[in-house]
Amino acid sequence: MKRKRLRDVLADKLTPEELRKVYNSYDVIGDIAVIRLRDELAEKAKIIANAIMETQSRVKTVLRQVSPVSDVYRVRKLEWVLGERKTETEYKEFGCVFKVDLANMYFSPRLSNERIRIARKVGEGEVVINMFAGVGTYSIIIAKHSKPKKVYSIDINPEAVKYMKENIAINKVQEVVIPILGDAREVIERGLKRSADRILMPLPERALDYLDCAVEALKPEGGWIHYYSFEHGKKRDEVIGKSKEKVSEKLRNLKVCFEFDEGRIVRETGPNWHQVALDIKVKKKR
Ligand SMILES: C[S@@+](CC[C@H](N)C(=O)[O-])C[C@H]1O[C@@H](n2cnc3c(N)ncnc32)[C@H](O)[C@@H]1O
Repeated sequence: MKRKRLRDVLADKLTPEELRKVYNSYDVIGDIAVIRLRDELAEKAKIIANAIMETQSRVKTVLRQVSPVSDVYRVRKLEWVLGERKTETEYKEFGCVFKVDLANMYFSPRLSNERIRIARKVGEGEVVINMFAGVGTYSIIIAKHSKPKKVYSIDINPEAVKYMKENIAINKVQEVVIPILGDAREVIERGLKRSADRILMPLPERALDYLDCAVEALKPEGGWIHYYSFEHGKKRDEVIGKSKEKVSEKLRNLKVCFEFDEGRIVRETGPNWHQVALDIKVKKKR
């Protein structure tokens, strides 16, 4: 069922002036709703939370996001608004279950189409490395929906890796998904060089810095890199072009033979800001 726009739900609860200031979208992760609010509407937080809980019976807790996603672990600050006082929940996506603590690790339900898109590209027997795996979403969906040999699933946040291990067990993919705590570069340099058919880089802020490492991790005959970045611009071709330019320069410097397959906008992240995904076919390294 399509979720009602927040403004429609609140039409008889706020003044027209207040309504105009309400952000229309909010995330529901398991039984927790996460809202963003302008400061001038802070006093109305409970009214807004109540309206969400009235219209969505599965929502048991409403949290307010009070900082952008930040720091190395990509975590956002959350404040409790209404309902059960908790930040942990279980989220279902494409037949997989993910336990997540929203206060201590990154999680976004807005990437679900991207996760299944990548999973469907994975061929039988492939070795996959997920360099920035969080609670294991991409890795587990790949293991459930395709037939990889192994998915090495790396994250630097100890709490995220703790939940990733639980999620691997819940989804019964222990034979395939290998959780690894650490910095992706160090982990790859220590033992995963020249090992993978496919690399995932779902950390748009830093993927360019780690691109050399992703190339290092591919088998000598090459493979695929799924690369993400944030780009500014009004038109689709412009933002995808910007991402391709930066990647091309870096890969040419690394003396890598490559071509772009699909390039797409995954989602809008702010006014004229977009998350871009590039599927890069790396052919034999020169
Ligand atoms: C944007 S989140 C993506 C998480 C996951 N792939 C998802 O879609 O839910 C990026 C993740 O990269 C992790 N991270 C940041 N720097 C890292 C590094 N140098 N090595 C490994 N993981 C890192 C963060 O802890 C965070 O969980």
